[in-house]
Amino acid sequence: MITGTRTGIGKALAEHFLEAGHDVVGCSRRPAAIDHPRYRHHQVDLADLGQSRRMFRSVRQEYGRLDALVNNAGTSSMNHFMTTPDEVTRKIFDINFFAVLNCCREAVKLLRKTSEPSSAILNVSTVAVPWALEGQLAYSASKGAVEQLVRVMSKELAAFGIRVNGIGLPPVHTVLTRTVPRPKIDELIERQAISRQCTMADIVGPVEFLIGRQSGFITGETIFLGGVH
Ligand SMILES: NC(=O)c1ccc[n+]([C@@H]2O[C@H](COP(=O)([O-])OP(=O)(O)OC[C@H]3O[C@@H](n4cnc5c(N)ncnc54)[C@H](OP(=O)(O)O)[C@@H]3O)[C@@H](O)[C@H]2O)c1
Repeated sequence: MITGTRTGIGKALAEHFLEAGHDVVGCSRRPAAIDHPRYRHHQVDLADLGQSRRMFRSVRQEYGRLDALVNNAGTSSMNHFMTTPDEVTRKIFDINFFAVLNCCREAVKLLRKTSEPSSAILNVSTVAVPWALEGQLAYSASKGAVEQLVRVMSKELAAFGIRVNGIGLPPVHTVLTRTVPRPKIDELIERQAISRQCTMADIVGPVEFLIGRQSGFITGETIFLGGVH
């Protein structure tokens, strides 16, 4: 299961795992952008706990289990904290943190039923956390909370055979970053050890590793791509 599959990174991941032969459940507020016999789309606002629960109930009825959950859906807003209203910050936390927390809580019941040696939760984070980027207080704080969720949940879920990790991304060309001025993106890319823009192809391999059998002894880590220190 991958959240936020209508566009960007979530869509690329869903298409990759479908091509690899998996069943993929995805979701977004707007209708599906993927048409595939092994793809099931749920049109839900993850910030609404009731809608999220209904989606997981339907996944349980259809599949009875989950092997992995990728919490990819997210939002951002760039602004100086002095001019960011609390309601904007709360909205960002509702989607980037509380929706992730709720999806984890609902998914655990299904992840415990996997036939794999272990099941996995993977959360998407950002360079805005380690680099404490200006103008991204609400966004980076919400993702910083997600990285802490990874650490704590990895301990609380280990006994159930569920691993919890994160993947930290530098700038990727998607809807989320389309309004960020190019010089700003280039400045961030220059800070990466591998100073070129991260692509979908750079992301799918590490995601596959982190939710797959090969990372069966890795939990509680958020791994950053591109050399971000
Ligand atoms: N792009 C980057 O440079 C970058 C860098 C670091 C981290 N990330 C992270 O990567 C993840 C994916 O971002 P992206 O760049 O691929 O952005 P994107 O293209 O804007 O995709 C976000 C996806 O999430 C869905 N979504 C948003 N809010 C939702 C909600 N309340 N309920 C359900 N679905 C929702 C959107 O579909 P609907 O609009 O239809 O709901 C869309 O499919 C995010 O967590 C982001 O923080 C991105």
